[in-house]
Amino acid sequence: MANPPRKILFVCLGNICRSPAAHTAFEAHLAKAGLAGEFTVESCGMGDWHVGELADSRMRETARRHGATITHRARHFRADDLETFDLILAMDEDNKRSLLSFAKKESQRAKIRLLREFDEDADAPLEVPDPYYGGPKEFEEVWTLVDRCTARLLSRLTATP
Ligand code: 4NP
Repeated sequence: MANPPRKILFVCLGNICRSPAAHTAFEAHLAKAGLAGEFTVESCGMGDWHVGELADSRMRETARRHGATITHRARHFRADDLETFDLILAMDEDNKRSLLSFAKKESQRAKIRLLREFDEDADAPLEVPDPYYGGPKEFEEVWTLVDRCTARLLSRLTATP
């Protein structure tokens, strides 16, 4: 992993619920800290079904209620993302396994982590649950988790050793 990592990729399955929410929450924390120009932030999906689409309207509405606007359009993961980005944060174990299946070397494997490794309140399993077949409560839970984890992520990445 580059030290300190400045190119961050959030990854889920469809790139229309969890990872665009994490991407947007992290950018909001960066903006609040005056650090927006210092990081490259992206998100993508391991599946390609929703490429080009805006995030799920339920996720956008949940973010909006928390004062955030998700403008991302879904994109599919590419193997070269494993070189381009310094830190690649999977929302769940399936996403992490898929990412690892593309990794060709240890330096790439070392970049792949679960977002909830940065959650100080996490109980196992360290996953952001897929809300796609859920309702408003599940989407709210996703926002709460990604907002908390990305705040913690930023403080870890900017902590002075
Ligand atoms: P996400 O949620 O991975 O958080 O974007 C999903 C969105 C769509 C599908 C699965 C998960 N899907 O199967 O279309």
